[in-house]
Amino acid sequence: MGISIFPITESFAAEIGDVDLAAPLAPAELAAIKQAFWTYAVLIFPAQTLTEQQHLDFAAHFGPLETSVAALNGKARLRLRADLADVSNLNSRNEIWGKDSRTRMIQLGNRLWHTDSSFKYLPARASLLYARKIPPIGGHTEFADLRAAYDALPDEVKARLEGLIAEHSLANSRLRTGFTNFTDAERAGLPPVPQLIVRTLPETNRKTLYVASHAGRIFGLPDADGRALIDQLIEHATQRRFVYTHRWRVGDLVMWDDRCTMHRGTEFDDLRWTRDMQRATVSDVANSCEQESVAIPAA
Ligand SMILES: [Fe+2]
Repeated sequence: MGISIFPITESFAAEIGDVDLAAPLAPAELAAIKQAFWTYAVLIFPAQTLTEQQHLDFAAHFGPLETSVAALNGKARLRLRADLADVSNLNSRNEIWGKDSRTRMIQLGNRLWHTDSSFKYLPARASLLYARKIPPIGGHTEFADLRAAYDALPDEVKARLEGLIAEHSLANSRLRTGFTNFTDAERAGLPPVPQLIVRTLPETNRKTLYVASHAGRIFGLPDADGRALIDQLIEHATQRRFVYTHRWRVGDLVMWDDRCTMHRGTEFDDLRWTRDMQRATVSDVANSCEQESVAIPAA
């Protein structure tokens, strides 16, 4: 028997059943999952039981894996191995973080609409988030379909966006939450990077917006105009008609295409409940400008 695909929305999110991601996948199963991924962009695999290694092995079918930002910053003690991002409210001793913890201040930026690692020159292609423990209320993840949002733009706006390049930086999104306390080493390790605002997905030839709270100025526009345009595009793309809200169950593995979606975590009482998630992240094949041979302007 092959995998089962249950669409949750018409063309954006689907549940995948009859597959055990802890076991080796048959080529036909993997091909069907990839086909569904290009079609939907958000796939949910319920009731999985995965070790860290099994989680990473499944992710590696989609490309090379990223090292987490925390590991890059040389954070002293990591709860998870360096190739998994710790998306939890726990410290390295598995205790709920403190109100003023620095990690908490930085992670609050995940409640803004973003796409993973767009602030890296080589951004993410796909993220695979696995739920180990969830709060009883809140702590959902919302996803916005940037392909559908692009399709819905008026033609004159599409024409205006063609070839525009935004500068992405982790500092941009954290500034929006009021966090500015980066160390010099962190700043030096994550310089602003260029990313196209409209991309074409090679597997389907579909065009998509590529914006996030990490985006700041736009090359060739006055700073204020560029930032205003990013805000307008995020607002457009996150209208309810483009958004799917995932309510987590323990054992869900949710994977999404970072090239054509944004996501954000919703609020929960993070000083009371544990939310323990781990994320494997697959790198894209090249910077978004390079992939489409668009010249990168001098900073
Ligand atoms: Fe994220």
